[in-house]
Amino acid sequence: MMEEILVVKRHIKYFEMCLKVLPGRYASLDNSRMTIAFFAISGLDLLDALDKINISPADMIEWIYSLQVLPVEKDGLSDMSASGFRGSTWTGASFVQPQTDKILYDSGHVAMTYTALCTLLVLGDDLSRVDKQAIAYGLKNLQLENGSFQYCVEGSEDDMRFIYCVAAVCYILNDYSTIDVEKAVNYIIDSLSYEGGFGQRPFTEAVGGSTYCAVAALYLFNKLDRLKPSELALITQWCLNRQQSGFQGRPNKAVDTCYSFWLGATLQILDSFQHVNHKANRDWLLSVQDYMTGGFSKWTTTSPDPLHSYLGLAGLALMHEEGVQSHFSPLNISQRAANHLHNLQNSSSW
Ligand SMILES: *[C@@H]1O[C@H](CO)[C@@H](O)[C@H](O)[C@H]1NC(C)=O
Ligand SMILES: *[C@@H]1O[C@H](CO)[C@@H](O)[C@H](O)[C@H]1NC(C)=O
Ligand SMILES: *[C@@H]1O[C@H](CO)[C@@H](O)[C@H](O)[C@H]1NC(C)=O
Repeated sequence: MMEEILVVKRHIKYFEMCLKVLPGRYASLDNSRMTIAFFAISGLDLLDALDKINISPADMIEWIYSLQVLPVEKDGLSDMSASGFRGSTWTGASFVQPQTDKILYDSGHVAMTYTALCTLLVLGDDLSRVDKQAIAYGLKNLQLENGSFQYCVEGSEDDMRFIYCVAAVCYILNDYSTIDVEKAVNYIIDSLSYEGGFGQRPFTEAVGGSTYCAVAALYLFNKLDRLKPSELALITQWCLNRQQSGFQGRPNKAVDTCYSFWLGATLQILDSFQHVNHKANRDWLLSVQDYMTGGFSKWTTTSPDPLHSYLGLAGLALMHEEGVQSHFSPLNISQRAANHLHNLQNSSSW
């Protein structure tokens, strides 16, 4: 039987490793390194340990800004259509800005824009070098006729994940003017399944991850009131029924660490987290810690990875685990980083 304590020092080492060098099995994530940085830096923030690693916040902030896709300036015209953040330098595009020619596929990716902005906030940056107008304009190009969003201007999948990312970016920029919020909200409401959770799109099966994305997006759009009381009750029930020890993402599926966050955070946004069995959830989360290397795994039989490590900690944060900072669920960053954002938005220089 493992001792049931949070191995904080090991987790700090694990997240520091994620920032420096990753095992080869993560090679396929090379084009989304921004998200890995987000998991690691946000994880360190939840452990109040950003000053306990030997990489300076200033260097991390420079790296993030180097991945901003600024407007392309050509013939006196400014093309903002691809604005946002890239996930990494995978296209080999030059760091020299501004660019004078648009490079195909070297465009903002809305999940990278969301994680870049959150990570800058976590690091205490004031977002003064973010081209807010261009990013807001870039979002406009991603919205489809049916209200959903693609992640990049060249065209891609469209589903609830990207609606969430767009809602979070609008919330951070405090600018909803470039998108059709009503259409996006209708798409979300249409994706509520008869079961009580949300699918990735209308008429699909309810899943824990898309349920979080849908409910958090409604919160960030300030449209939770679009759900009827009967629907809220059904969603709450569906989420609570997903608890087995930790949480499963769908009925009859195995419990998986990340759902302690996806479903726990949804319940917190709906003011019903108090009905979760904290002890069973905590016991699950501590059982998937890697006591040797730090980090959390999806299952007790798998190796830790950055996503489950961050979401495992975020799941513990919802239960006010000692040594873990409190968490602002709708953006999925620490409460401290969210307070920093709210102060910035109120300052005269915003
Ligand atoms: C939304 O519209 C796009 C583009 O027309 C289409 O590819 C996609 O399948 C639509 N999504 C849904 C859920 O209808
Ligand atoms: C936050 O939510 C996004 C969008 O669903 C997801 O990609 C990411 O894994 C989550 N990270 C955190 C901080 O929970
Ligand atoms: C920002 O300003 C609003 C409106 O004046 C106020 O309600 C809110 O408390 C302020 N937030 C912070 C973090 O100061």
